[in-house]
Amino acid sequence: MRPSVFVSRVIPEAGLSLVRAHCEADIWPEVMPPPYQVLQERLRGKDGLLCTLNDRIDAALIDSAGPQLKVISQMAVGYDNIDVRAAHARGIPIGNTPGVLTDATADLAFALLLCAARRLVEGIEYIRAGRWITWEPMALLGGDLSGATLGILGLGRIGQAVARRARGFDLRLIACSPDASPEDALKLGVELVSFDELLRQSDYLTIHVPLNPQTRHLIDAAALKQMKPSAILVNTSRGGVVDQPALIEALRNGVIAGAALDVTDPEPLPADHPLLSLPNAVVVPHIGSASRRTRDHMARMAAENLIAGVSGQPLPHAVPPPG
Ligand code: DGY
Repeated sequence: MRPSVFVSRVIPEAGLSLVRAHCEADIWPEVMPPPYQVLQERLRGKDGLLCTLNDRIDAALIDSAGPQLKVISQMAVGYDNIDVRAAHARGIPIGNTPGVLTDATADLAFALLLCAARRLVEGIEYIRAGRWITWEPMALLGGDLSGATLGILGLGRIGQAVARRARGFDLRLIACSPDASPEDALKLGVELVSFDELLRQSDYLTIHVPLNPQTRHLIDAAALKQMKPSAILVNTSRGGVVDQPALIEALRNGVIAGAALDVTDPEPLPADHPLLSLPNAVVVPHIGSASRRTRDHMARMAAENLIAGVSGQPLPHAVPPPG
């Protein structure tokens, strides 16, 4: 009998065709993710789950699925929506999709950095409002990149890819990353500094750490106060790393100059959220990995993890057990 799986969203065909070829797949067809209770019902009795970062996968959900559940395969590199400890305690491996979205996410971090530094959104709105009546010597002045200091919080795969891009823009590079190897940092031309130094020295600060209990609200009011009033914060990791109310206050009161965010807390943000009315905040809807090739790769990797898991094989890309 073919293994039965629940796929919680329609994902690119590159992955879906693999899943269909190996499994009896129940695929959630809606644009909106399944509500928690619906997810619980549809997963009951299944051998595997292919999920996204929208799904809350906690101990209760895993238990209600039943003892036959063999694998949880997430189509994302981040997995803060999954209770990893609970899954591992029940012997269920978790798959994720590292590596394939590194470049796309680093590209977007850089796009956001440039967008905020050079005030692109304000420029577009200025034209649309009919205010472009002449070349203005003093209008829409932004920050320079060359010679400025880019601080990288988290020098993992994506942080390193951002560093490589930044070298082409003649930025000075510093990073705070307790696990980074000094040799790697040296090769990238990055100086490793403490968290406080990172905050104090950065003209642009870009966040590339996973969300976990240690990083939740790492950028809080106290951290923002240490930053330069001219600084711009870029976040393409997880919204929860930043204390969002504190960020809004900081942007309103000129504690920092701007923010460019691909991720927020919560997601999605309601259209009337205060963050969206700030002229010095650029917000896009969690599209770091949203390139066609990247999403195909992610879907394929997630399918491969799922198929390996339901077949009792080691996952090609497994989340390590919690330490
Ligand atoms: C991830 O993979 O964790 C990303 O946030 C999805 O774009």
